[in-house]
Amino acid sequence: MISVIFVCLGNICRSPMAEFVFKKMVDERSLSLSFDITSRGTSDEEEGNGIYPPAARTLRTHGIEGRHVSRQLTKKEVLNADYVLVMDSGNLFDVLRLTGGQCSEKVFKLCSFTSHPRDVADPWYTRDFEKAYSDIRDGCEGFLNYVLSAHSDMLGYDSRH
Ligand code: 4NP
Repeated sequence: MISVIFVCLGNICRSPMAEFVFKKMVDERSLSLSFDITSRGTSDEEEGNGIYPPAARTLRTHGIEGRHVSRQLTKKEVLNADYVLVMDSGNLFDVLRLTGGQCSEKVFKLCSFTSHPRDVADPWYTRDFEKAYSDIRDGCEGFLNYVLSAHSDMLGYDSRH
């Protein structure tokens, strides 16, 4: 089982979008049983809230639905995860502050797995949820290709097929 936590600030926009996008990609490859996929926020500001409606609407236009309750990331969750995928440099800083610098080898910016490493622009401020979706999709595709080759023994999956 490969555990993946997607992390943003509030856990109501970008990281739940990434969670649902990645779950769908994994499901389409019949690999759901090999992954434990969730999302968290570095802040507790939105604790207990659902996915932000414009983020949910954007997902729905791409045929993706999911239930969600915002939760703040804990140090223990980082210690137990295989991969912690953050949306931007601020999230990266906050996660490493939470762990006191531990676990830096498993914390990555999601779009570092693309041919154009970048932050996922925060739609809370840009209001461009479609752009956030597109960045997230690109990052999830890149990350999935990475894990398929890095764990090909365990996943029994040849990404060339
Ligand atoms: P997220 O977006 O980190 O992608 O969930 C935000 C949600 C809430 C706030 C900022 C960003 N906020 O400042 O409340």
